[in-house]
Amino acid sequence: MKELVAVFDFGSQYSQLIARRIREMGVYCEIVRHTISEDELLQLDPIAIVLSGGPASVLEPDHPSMDREILSLDIPILGICYGMQLMAQMQGGVVKKGRSGEYGPASIEITRSAGIFQDMESPLHVWMSHGDHVTDVPEGFQVLASTRDCPIASMVDDGGKRYGIQFHPEVVHTPKGVEIIRNFLFHVAGCTGDWTMGRFAEESVKRIRDTVGEANVICGLSGGVDSAVAAARINSAIGSQMKAIFVDNGLLRKGEVDDIRTLFTEDYKLDFRIVDARARFVDALRGVTDPETKRKIIGETFIDVFSDEAANMESARFLAQGTLYPDVVESQSAHGGPSSTIKSHHNVGGLPEDLNFELLEPLRELFKDEVRVLGRELGLPESLLMRQPFPGPGLAVRIIGEVTEESLAVLRDADVIVQEEVMAYEGYGDIWQSFAVLLPVKSVGVMGDERTYANVVALRIVASLDAMTADWVKLPYEVLGNISSRIINEVRGVNRVVYDISSKPPSTIEWE
Ligand code: XMP
Repeated sequence: MKELVAVFDFGSQYSQLIARRIREMGVYCEIVRHTISEDELLQLDPIAIVLSGGPASVLEPDHPSMDREILSLDIPILGICYGMQLMAQMQGGVVKKGRSGEYGPASIEITRSAGIFQDMESPLHVWMSHGDHVTDVPEGFQVLASTRDCPIASMVDDGGKRYGIQFHPEVVHTPKGVEIIRNFLFHVAGCTGDWTMGRFAEESVKRIRDTVGEANVICGLSGGVDSAVAAARINSAIGSQMKAIFVDNGLLRKGEVDDIRTLFTEDYKLDFRIVDARARFVDALRGVTDPETKRKIIGETFIDVFSDEAANMESARFLAQGTLYPDVVESQSAHGGPSSTIKSHHNVGGLPEDLNFELLEPLRELFKDEVRVLGRELGLPESLLMRQPFPGPGLAVRIIGEVTEESLAVLRDADVIVQEEVMAYEGYGDIWQSFAVLLPVKSVGVMGDERTYANVVALRIVASLDAMTADWVKLPYEVLGNISSRIINEVRGVNRVVYDISSKPPSTIEWE
């Protein structure tokens, strides 16, 4: 039986980060609704519980709460920020609004270097972000650490099993945060840390076989990491019972279709079909310039093509998707919606329900970097696993204005130069996305003795952690200069290159 830590989600932006930190220590962890009942929780059989922070205040009337019985179970608990305040209040302690709150770095004085603070010395630098704080610990608890503004920065019960900390150990601004979580897991809760990707991989093969039985599975490959790893995983579990479909919409980057064909037909020997739908997509996009209309047409055309293909295949009961854990968590309501509200994440383009498939989602417990580790175990090439994100509507949202075969060819040629030059740059690892955008603008140039009147290409090269915010990369002029002169010299139809120096927000990463 694997060790499972349950992270109660009280709506913190950091819940997933807490889960990541725990898994990095080799302990399997799941984020659960804070409304989970004692019975439901016991079915998960957690070895420890973490109560996340959250934006609410326990002093508000309808604040998010939890099943009181859970606090009395013989399971170690770590309450973080809001989680600590809730735990204190529900057990008879007092929480009050602070005079000014505490936001940012703080130094705490530890009164006892034991338990979660084992072998740590004062002052300990931590990251605070709270308005309320505990002013009286519940009966049977003692103060474990304090700051000038927050006399109860940490508390522990007499049994040494239930801890509260007012600061955030999961963020990098708490330098010893990882050790505090480690102490909680290994010293307090007795975890062994035996969860590895190898073990997950073994278990997932068994699970796929048990779920699928003799039935057939259709897997839509998108060219991205998630669907590729899902396909490789399922293929190694059930072999030819899985048929993979790849819709070539003509909107991919140069060489991508060939790479996918080689990988999955020669290296992996999947039962794999490439549907050449390039003409269908370009026809559907003819004359369309509005970005939202383009996206809608591409989505609908994908569904039509995929449905036609699926209808022609031997009856399949399952549709495989590369849904990841963040998609699953984000589609759950932070304030306790039932787990049935989990939506299916349509990373192959939003398929209609009347296709009547059951979903097979072998990656739904994994974070993106764990998917890469699994992909490595399955022998997928690094070039695929470390691919930059690529939008579903592909190059169509990087051609401003009408998408035609000609504009696609120009953009593809310019884009591959951006890729080559940026990959050769030593700072490539810090780049989130780098690509070319074809503008519907013509400008005058001169080549040799001739006047030219040709298109402008914009370069979009950004750094980001999660695509929610992004900044343009300060590439060395030399690299920018090489990209520009190569595009102008090598790509017919382009005589000017400009660099996009907008951050997100207020701009977006893609231009459409
Ligand atoms: P924006 O342009 O909104 O993009 O800053 C944020 C991230 O999402 C990617 N993106 C998409 N991905 N389907 C996708 O799968 C889409 O329609 C789509 N639009 C944007 C974009 O490349 C960036 O990484």
